[in-house]
Amino acid sequence: MKSVTLIPGDGIGPEVAFSAKAVVDALNLGIEWEIVNAGKSVFDVCGVLVPEELYNSIESKRVVLKGPITTPIGKGFKSINVMLRQKYDLFTNIRPVKSIMVSNRGFNDIDLVIFRENSEGLYKGVENEISDDEVHALKIVTRAASERIIRAAFDYALKQGRSKVTLVHKANILKKSDGLFLGIGETIAKAYPTISFDSVIVDNMCMQLVMNPNQYDVIVTMNLYGDILSDLCAGLIGGLGLVPGANIGSDIAIFEAVHGSAPDIAGKGLANPTAMILSAAMMLEYMGFTDEANKIKRAVATVFASGVGLTPDLGGDGTTETFTKVVIQNL
Ligand code: NAI
Ligand code: MG
Repeated sequence: MKSVTLIPGDGIGPEVAFSAKAVVDALNLGIEWEIVNAGKSVFDVCGVLVPEELYNSIESKRVVLKGPITTPIGKGFKSINVMLRQKYDLFTNIRPVKSIMVSNRGFNDIDLVIFRENSEGLYKGVENEISDDEVHALKIVTRAASERIIRAAFDYALKQGRSKVTLVHKANILKKSDGLFLGIGETIAKAYPTISFDSVIVDNMCMQLVMNPNQYDVIVTMNLYGDILSDLCAGLIGGLGLVPGANIGSDIAIFEAVHGSAPDIAGKGLANPTAMILSAAMMLEYMGFTDEANKIKRAVATVFASGVGLTPDLGGDGTTETFTKVVIQNL
């Protein structure tokens, strides 16, 4: 018997999280879910953002499927998402971006994977208020964290039979911090002679991805750039409802969609659960249920190939619930 933690989250979180749970449950793998919430919805009721129960659950189950959690902009509490990644040292953020739709809404032949450094950089949140009119934000880059994410990207490329790793940086301006990351990438690349390696400055990368994304295979980059490029790449294949993700550490992993809590469409049955369903497939793969993960991916692909029952973000008239049912029928 395997048991995992399920965090429903805020906004559309519960809608997409329970959709993904329903798809996994339909496979009858005997997976037990410990459902513990965190975030704004918990704070509004209990006055705490993260109940102690959640830490206990994560530390005992060690595998988590998580809905998005709202983070207030500007003032207010810090991101629980970033906190969990840092607390459990989930240093590898993997985000596969693969076309599943044939339409005029995006590219139909994209298959790339983003490896985002998930533990440091500007997301350490070291901000110093020098005065009312001056604030400094510190970008923290270490050799250890840079090495492990870049190695993870190359190891993945090798294992998955991918041919190229592209490192994205801004070392022309941030000569020391991004320069360290780039230098480490150039050194590590030499240990993987069968994988080709190049590096691209992040602003050019945005243009290249929009104009000609098929030249990329595995992308490895720093925390903030990885965050931004993930949403950009989601846009290339039809939107945020389609891109899953994994936050992986040495023995704990949290699986979640790239998208956020989408308050603009929450509670209306409009959310596209595909990204969460595919995140659940990544979770099953991590747990060793490779065949079952493939079953989910095939079912999703079948639904998209038919083009019937898709959610409104993709121009369809399906709801979160009806789409989920169609995926389950195709398992
Ligand atoms: P968002 O990703 O929630 O939404 C951006 C746009 O994409 C919206 O128009 C939304 O309706 C649409 N969208 C997102 N997911 C969708 C889905 N599954 N189906 C259909 N449409 C979808 O980004 P936003 O608005 O910047 O952030 C909202 C909140 O989410 C913020 O509090 C932010 O901090 C939080 N957030 C949480 C994340 C996490 O828990 N890992 C990740 C990103 C944002
Ligand atoms: Mg993001």
